[in-house]
Amino acid sequence: MDIVRLTAGKKKIFEDFLRSYLARADSGSGIFEAFSYSLTAGGKRLRPILTMLACECMGGKESDALPAGLAIEMIHTFSLIHDDLPALDNDDLRRGRPTCHAKFGEATAILAGDALIFQALSVINSSPYQEDVKLDILKCISDVCGVEGLVQGEYRDVVAEGKDLSLDEIEDIYRKKTSRLFELCMYAGARVASADAEKIGRLVRYGTYLGLAFQAIDDILDMTSSEEILGKSSGKDLVQGKATVVKALGLDGARLWAGEMTSRAVSSIDHPDNGASSSLKEIARWMLKRVM
Ligand code: IPE
Ligand code: IPE
Ligand code: MG
Ligand code: MG
Ligand code: MG
Repeated sequence: MDIVRLTAGKKKIFEDFLRSYLARADSGSGIFEAFSYSLTAGGKRLRPILTMLACECMGGKESDALPAGLAIEMIHTFSLIHDDLPALDNDDLRRGRPTCHAKFGEATAILAGDALIFQALSVINSSPYQEDVKLDILKCISDVCGVEGLVQGEYRDVVAEGKDLSLDEIEDIYRKKTSRLFELCMYAGARVASADAEKIGRLVRYGTYLGLAFQAIDDILDMTSSEEILGKSSGKDLVQGKATVVKALGLDGARLWAGEMTSRAVSSIDHPDNGASSSLKEIARWMLKRVM
């Protein structure tokens, strides 16, 4: 399977869907400008791609996953805008462009982030999904993003700066700030395809481990890659004393750890009932190659 071509094709389908959504939603307001600036800045679109793959591997149609994928990409983009703010990671570059606050000012960036959260809910609400599917996805969003989810993870990441955390504590931050959204991709994609709870459970477990591997890979790249390649700052985690597996285990240890999480992700869906999950396995291995 050519995973590079597969993901490029899905990325294009998502970009077209996003473009047509923005054309319909354009209100011409300043907040809309900031909101769409960050949404259209590019990025790998990994979360919508994963949502499509989860849906397809459960027998659903790729296009059915698009509203859920868009809502998740909006939540992800909100988390990046706020993550970059001076009070959090204080970054000026994101997806190869000035960050939202560097371009529009802090107040607008905070509000654009807020707007993205609520638009994500509205995308689900106005989607063609059945009412029970909408409700389940909205419930999952509130579970994974809230005070015990992504926001908690970001909080713990910020207050951990400069401290020496145990590997378990670091893993817990990763689970919240990063894995939760990957779990949401798996849940929403599979739910849209009407998968049963057992199959959804296996996919969500894959999302947990994929998220752990992904954050470790991001932290390794922060040490080993460049601003030009990443389209965002590099070398800053060390300076800011961020709690990362690189800090706890060193670069080689972090690579091993990311490899172990990737193996666990792959084996989570190694089950005859999990349909055509080979693309999900392949994407996990492909991500790991970025740091090997
Ligand atoms: C960055 O995510 C935030 C982390 C969880 C490390 P991505 O690396 O997926 O960012 P984009 O969407 O490609 O810009
Ligand atoms: C956390 O990780 C990303 C979010 C959950 C928003 P980082 O702070 O390392 O993400 P980057 O490196 O800025 O993309
Ligand atoms: Mg951060
Ligand atoms: Mg950051
Ligand atoms: Mg990072």
